[in-house]
Amino acid sequence: MAEPTERFETFLDAVGRAPIIPVLTVEGPAQAAPLARALAAGGVAAIEITLRRPGALEAIAAAAEAAPELLVGAGTVLDQRQLESAAAAGARFAVSPGATPALLAAARGWAHPFLPGVASASEIMAALAQGFRRLKFFPAAPLGGPAALKALATPFPEVGFCPTGGITRDSAPEYLRLGSVFCLGGSWIAPDALIDAEAWDEIERLARESLTALKAPS
Ligand code: 3PG
Repeated sequence: MAEPTERFETFLDAVGRAPIIPVLTVEGPAQAAPLARALAAGGVAAIEITLRRPGALEAIAAAAEAAPELLVGAGTVLDQRQLESAAAAGARFAVSPGATPALLAAARGWAHPFLPGVASASEIMAALAQGFRRLKFFPAAPLGGPAALKALATPFPEVGFCPTGGITRDSAPEYLRLGSVFCLGGSWIAPDALIDAEAWDEIERLARESLTALKAPS
């Protein structure tokens, strides 16, 4: 069962240019618009806004409008209803911490890329059986970090992973050196404290610094 490649083209192009996806939990549009502009200025190409707060859908719409050069996605998508409302708000990809059979079935018919979350070989096999080959590995650091992902990826050479959970500026390059990792996500570029302080310049600086660190020789 093939995953529709063309559906992923824009997403893969964005994370190919800047493979760190900031994972953002915001109150609503007032925070999302300047945050999106700061991250775009810092070189980010794709952001994930989690559906964990009431204003998240409005935040997705505001981010997409404020920084049209960014690919804005929805995170913590748990069911079909959230998948549909995320797309209606302007999300162009979606991510889940896990996967249920119902969510995978809904996501197969969705118009945009969906990354189910996996934490074990059996979960990878369940996602593959439904045609998903690009998966979120979550929570990456508590599960054993790059060493765990390297071992888990070995039996599944056709799978691309986007690890998230506990990744930092310093650990990001090690994940991205794994051949199986095509992007990663994390909140360290825009942690809640900096968002609440509206420290947009600092967030822009952290984004630029994190992306630059990837280019440094190891
Ligand atoms: C999440 O869904 O919260 C992401 O995995 C981000 O995790 P982090 O806050 O540990 O970077």
